[in-house]
Amino acid sequence: MHASKIASPLAVGRNVPRKDSAEKVAGAAKYVDDLVFPGMLYGRTIRSTIPRGRIAATRLAFDQRGFVVADYRDIPGRNVVALIEDDQPFLAEREIRHTAEPILLLAHESRDLLLRAHVEIGYERENPVLDPESSPTAFKSLAIDKGEIEDGFSEADIIIEGEYRTGHQEHIYIETNGVIAVPQDGGITLLGSMQCPFYVHKALKSMLGWSDERIRVVQTETGGGFGGKEEYPSLIAGHAALLALKANRPVKIVYDRAEDMIATTKRHPAIVRHRTGVKRDGRLTAMDIDIVMDAGAYVTLSPVVLSRGAIHAAGPYRCDHVRVRGRAMMTNTPPNGAFRGFGAPQTQFAVEVHMERIAETLGIDPVKLRETNAFRPGDTTSTGQILGEDCSALDVLRRAVRRSGFRTRQRRYAGTNRGIGLALFYHGSGFTGGGEVRLASKASLGLTERGVQILVASTEIGQGTRTMHAQIVADALGVPFDDVYPVQPDTSNVPDSGPTVASRTCMVVGRILQQCAEEMKTRLGGMTPREFFAAHGPMIVTSEYEGPSGIKWDDSTYRGDAYSTYAWACDVAEVEINPDTFEVRPLKLTCVHDIGKAIHPVLVAGQIEGGTAQGIGYALIEQVVMREGSMANAQLTNYTIPTTLDTPPIDVVIVENPSRYGPHGAKGVGELPIDGPAPAIVNAVRSIGIDLREIPAVPEIVMKAIDLGKGKTDARHVPL
Ligand code: MOS
Repeated sequence: MHASKIASPLAVGRNVPRKDSAEKVAGAAKYVDDLVFPGMLYGRTIRSTIPRGRIAATRLAFDQRGFVVADYRDIPGRNVVALIEDDQPFLAEREIRHTAEPILLLAHESRDLLLRAHVEIGYERENPVLDPESSPTAFKSLAIDKGEIEDGFSEADIIIEGEYRTGHQEHIYIETNGVIAVPQDGGITLLGSMQCPFYVHKALKSMLGWSDERIRVVQTETGGGFGGKEEYPSLIAGHAALLALKANRPVKIVYDRAEDMIATTKRHPAIVRHRTGVKRDGRLTAMDIDIVMDAGAYVTLSPVVLSRGAIHAAGPYRCDHVRVRGRAMMTNTPPNGAFRGFGAPQTQFAVEVHMERIAETLGIDPVKLRETNAFRPGDTTSTGQILGEDCSALDVLRRAVRRSGFRTRQRRYAGTNRGIGLALFYHGSGFTGGGEVRLASKASLGLTERGVQILVASTEIGQGTRTMHAQIVADALGVPFDDVYPVQPDTSNVPDSGPTVASRTCMVVGRILQQCAEEMKTRLGGMTPREFFAAHGPMIVTSEYEGPSGIKWDDSTYRGDAYSTYAWACDVAEVEINPDTFEVRPLKLTCVHDIGKAIHPVLVAGQIEGGTAQGIGYALIEQVVMREGSMANAQLTNYTIPTTLDTPPIDVVIVENPSRYGPHGAKGVGELPIDGPAPAIVNAVRSIGIDLREIPAVPEIVMKAIDLGKGKTDARHVPL
């Protein structure tokens, strides 16, 4: 590890006990489905069974005694989920754009009767658009231009082209989506499993046409999110609220796994095409990249997913002439949305597999090719951002090669059914461009009888928010870790710290908390919190995000500093292919990640291991089968994720090259680990001699790649 440039503090950098561990281990933590309110009803969503068309008629074919029924006419305000574009209705009026689109809501005391209620819906069907490339509707298009692409191609000795495909991915958070709406005193409280309480608050305000203070959103203990609880909870909260207001009773809606898989967002599938000019020695002269993302039926967060994907599309490589074109296309499937990595896993899969093909074509070692092109401090990215000393691309590459014994294994595996491959990648921390300045997030610290209270909207979704924030605050104040305690995010009680997304919770919100603590320390005037409280009573300190000076971004040209810092990583994957079944088994992953500063090393390693395991699933196992725009395998028996048996040893190495902007130098860690495993694994398969360019690389896809290779005269030896 690099020696940290900041003096060693008390809690930061140590594996202190998690703030949420005792309650979770004891089973005392309350998740949404643990909560029961007097008079509570259960809610159910009636959904479309066709991908595209119009509703002709609806008929309630059940005994309606004891039922509450709501449809779009019960919405007092606007029937759109307020997010980026106002296009997605809470409840369909006439038009159906995807299977599982919500049409009607039912509530009843009895879950049994609720499930048995039958609603007949007649449709006028239309032909669905299921291929993003032939869709007439682009939700978002964007362009990045650096240099003059044609100049770059004229400098090239060789031009190499390729097309790379990635599939949907389902989040499979351990707890499905769920919300309870409780009407009281002319207002409503929403309690649920979510990442972003203020997103829900905003969406409900617009749906109800109510003022701020009549709506209260409380995050209940949340069993994972991965982006799947970024925008979706607004929809389910709206549904619960409509039923609750109509019934004037609390209403709980908790999806079962099948409903959660069929109806909620997934990772955007992508088709990425590269055309690259290279010198014979491997230097990149031109990168021309075209990205098509399948957005599904509504815009949701597609513009920002596409944006992050496009910004990361050229990989961590120096190239003077870059052209990126991206489109997010409408199709008649449930909307795709936020998922850990936010577009970057798709585009970095493409560029890293493409780099491997460049190495193969030129006959250059894959490590050497990356060493030649990896960003150094002083290099500029595709958006023209000049990288500083916090750029560690070359460092993580070299460490990963050494640590994994890459060269030795490369030789050892040659000619066998084993292979080794790597991926070099990076991930911008926080919102893109001017996003953090626009968000203007706030955080507060309270001084109470119990100690120092952290007041943020940032949610604990398993990743360690509460613990990591408390460590930062404890050290900045100079108080014991145990004296700092988190509160439940509740929009009536905490300031808007922005959403818990985009690898921003430590780097951005942690930094604001550090500012709060520094100010509180000044106000304490040398007293301990306890002494101050005894003398003066409670105190609250609030601080707001201050955009780092010198960071410039132009949204109209896509030029400038896309992120205030990047985290850098290199993954090495070793795999074995079964010659009879074409199953690819990962044998080991070596993950060297520069995340600036590990506030809590065990939690950081947990993020890296978890993201890597999720990346293994993305690469090899997790296949969403779409039939007529509907997920055909919406069960954990046939949409499977890696178990411990599918997850090989993961050797995690944490590198700490600090950023000036994060607390103690921290950069983002949440998303980075999902970007690398898929290309590293596919490149390992390629090293066996299989021309694989697509994930999930399930046996059928691997077999197809082998069969295609057999017909080619230049096919390399496949030892199968
Ligand atoms: Mo996320 S994919 O930034 O919740």
